[in-house]
Amino acid sequence: MTRDFRQPRVTDLAAIMAIQRECYPPVLREDRLTIEERMAVAAEYCWVAEDEHGIAAYLFAYPSTLGKITPLDGAFRIAPDGDTLYFHDLAVLKRVAGTGLGSDLVDVALASAAAQGFAHAALVAVQESSMFWERMGYRRRDELDEVERENLQTYPGSPFYMVREVLPPSGT
Ligand SMILES: CC(C)(COP(=O)(O)OP(=O)(O)OC[C@H]1O[C@@H](n2cnc3c(N)ncnc32)[C@H](O)[C@@H]1OP(=O)(O)O)[C@@H](O)C(=O)NCCC(=O)NCCS
Repeated sequence: MTRDFRQPRVTDLAAIMAIQRECYPPVLREDRLTIEERMAVAAEYCWVAEDEHGIAAYLFAYPSTLGKITPLDGAFRIAPDGDTLYFHDLAVLKRVAGTGLGSDLVDVALASAAAQGFAHAALVAVQESSMFWERMGYRRRDELDEVERENLQTYPGSPFYMVREVLPPSGT
């Protein structure tokens, strides 16, 4: 099966919204305008994975600062000199779940983070996904300031802020 990883286009929005609908309950879904805005402000930090049937997964990220959390539905507040690539959303269609696509997208984003000199990658793990993220090298970080703790609590269930180190590209 061939899979291409590339930056999303506006014409991918319908497919991205369909993946979101399949992967998240209504309370965790974000509206089309919010997602469109994210693609506009953080284009080079967003990826889709495409196979012969179409877009199968996406990962949206943006430059941030260690310890900062985007609230659900919140705008991406890009930190121009940020030390952290913040993964806001990773979702994989069920038809390809468990085939390594989620891990591959994370690797693509981490390679980009390394190439651009980020020291950390961070995210909020939702929907019991923290085991997946642990396998990708992330660890829970519970020390958060008050504002970020409130941002974390905008996510339902048991959300965890998780962080991993980003290693410089080999050969540097
Ligand atoms: C979590 C998610 C992105 C994983 O994507 P995926 O492509 O299915 O994952 P991979 O195939 O790369 O899985 C890698 C390993 O992690 C495991 N894994 C996958 N999802 C997992 C989860 N939710 N919890 C624990 N382990 C998980 C897989 O079984 C696999 O293990 P294996 O190598 O022993 O078989 C996908 O299940 C998804 O889109 N979930 C819904 C949206 C969501 O909750 N995203 C996370 C937001 S923080």
